[in-house]
Amino acid sequence: MRIGECLRDIMVLPPQEARRIAAGEVIDRPAALIREFIDNAIDAGASVIEVSIEGGGAKKAEVSDNGSGMDRDNLERAVLPHATSKIRSLDDLDTVETLGFRGEALAAAVAVARLEIISSAAGGEAWRLEAGPGEERPVHVSAASRTRGSTVRALSLYESIPARKKFLKREGSEALLCRQVFIDKALAFPDITFRFTQDARPKDFFPAVSSKKERFAAAALDTNEGKFLHEIGVSGEGFSVGLVIGGPELFRTDKRMLYVFANGRRIQDYSLINAVEYGTQGWFPNGTHPVGAVYLDIDPSLADFNIHPAKREARFKDPGAIHHAISSGLRDFCRRHGLKSGAEQSAFRITNYNTDWLTLPNRHEGTGGALAMKALLDNPPEFAPLPGQGQNETRGEAQPVFAAEDAPVYGEPRYAGTVFGVFILLEWGDKLFIIDQHAAHERILYDRFLSQPVPRQELLVPVSFTTESAEDDSFLEAKKQELATLGVIIEKDGNGWRISALPSGWSLTDPQTVKEILSLREAGENIAERWAATLSCHQAVRDGDQLDAGAALCLGKEALMLPQPRCPHGRPVWTEVSREALYKAVRRI
Ligand SMILES: Nc1ncnc2c1ncn2[C@@H]1O[C@H](COP(=O)(O)OP(=O)(O)OP(=O)(O)O)[C@@H](O)[C@H]1O
Ligand SMILES: [Mg+2]
Repeated sequence: MRIGECLRDIMVLPPQEARRIAAGEVIDRPAALIREFIDNAIDAGASVIEVSIEGGGAKKAEVSDNGSGMDRDNLERAVLPHATSKIRSLDDLDTVETLGFRGEALAAAVAVARLEIISSAAGGEAWRLEAGPGEERPVHVSAASRTRGSTVRALSLYESIPARKKFLKREGSEALLCRQVFIDKALAFPDITFRFTQDARPKDFFPAVSSKKERFAAAALDTNEGKFLHEIGVSGEGFSVGLVIGGPELFRTDKRMLYVFANGRRIQDYSLINAVEYGTQGWFPNGTHPVGAVYLDIDPSLADFNIHPAKREARFKDPGAIHHAISSGLRDFCRRHGLKSGAEQSAFRITNYNTDWLTLPNRHEGTGGALAMKALLDNPPEFAPLPGQGQNETRGEAQPVFAAEDAPVYGEPRYAGTVFGVFILLEWGDKLFIIDQHAAHERILYDRFLSQPVPRQELLVPVSFTTESAEDDSFLEAKKQELATLGVIIEKDGNGWRISALPSGWSLTDPQTVKEILSLREAGENIAERWAATLSCHQAVRDGDQLDAGAALCLGKEALMLPQPRCPHGRPVWTEVSREALYKAVRRI
């Protein structure tokens, strides 16, 4: 029937037709069968779950478990619409902790496929149920045998519904989607053993492990990448969050490797993915993203999982609190421990250093950079201790100045010059380090601004201004205190505002200053990072600034010691070329 043709007679669809249409929302493709069957196995308390598909899952989608199993009566009821053992009324949704709760999945599977279940509640006595497709065929139950648990198998999906079958993708694509669902579930439940078989070929085997990090490494990453993973936990009112996060070594160019799980379900939640990105800002090169997963465990009364037919979305009562816990937890973690950086993994691991070599730079022009350099030299930044470095070691005392752990000691780096007006060259051991002087200085200042209150200077003539919006006013009112620790003293002055102090070395014009301060509104919770990035960018030595040999050497060494050698925008601060690579390039070896 076409649009516009007269739909005079409204008819109620026969129940089985209505059911098949509704079932299409729950079981929209083979992967949905896998998802629902695995959910049931997890709810049944299984410790081993085996998934097997044939023909992309459309020919056969099967999940076996060693969970509670079902006796004959329960088995017969399991496939009826709205039949569930998990809730008794809508109110129970506030406390339900199982993945299932609607009593719809098996009934939907029967509506669109042939379903076979072999189940045993005690081991020994077992029952086989055969049902569907559709309701025309009677449910048949017979005696069977198997150990405790269930095997649930859907055969010939959509065979009786050609209108839907034609929308299935190629076998390979459907198989990939099934495997993705399998991986999602395996990631969410590391303490369960999972196995995946495709067309009789074993594909994945993930033995039970005790940490999310280990399972993430096994199920989502390539071999050897797992060592760059970190795991931390944060919590708030009514929720806790496990965070698995990869170091900068694992960066990706898209966000596909960022997973969000809420109470064991993978959900699409861009705001929580953003929280991860916020929390790790400055640790990853521009345009790249971390890999990792958010495992949110939330009191069911503070979340609604019943807003998407496939439970792919959830609504939270206080998403801001979760966002904040994640981003601030990650930020603290990055700051305190420093994600492992290239420098730490290099044979040139620096375990201690001496600040005696610091000398004043001899810059030819400019003021902001010179001031900052002086400030840097007067008061070098505190760094997070590197792995293996004792807490009590005092900087500036230990000898040798540079020592490599488990590696030869190479003595002092040698300043070999500056090229293209920006790259400081240091020869050290059998490597040449090429250091971006602006990026290096920017990062050093950035870390320092974030690790201690920003030094400020009183203004002889305060800057007075009025804002253009009430939002700006309330922003300034709310952030006055925080701005003070960032070197900006700002107070209400009649209808407007008065700035009486700014960070030392501040060199912007008044309108630019006001603009920079108001633009912090866009930074959300990351005002300190944004401000530190602005300050360090303005105050760092620039391309073309000429540093004398002593200052260049000092800056270069500081750069090589950075726990996280990336500029605040994420660019690497230095790169290296080995003698061997140079020898090879000119065919000496
Ligand atoms: N593998 C299994 N082991 C034990 N019992 C199971 C298994 N699969 C299903 N059941 C039982 O069958 C019932 C119906 O399963 P079904 O998946 O249709 O609904 P549900 O899990 O309760 O809710 P939802 O539709 O949200 O998944 C479950 O409540 C459970 O009691
Ligand atoms: Mg279910």
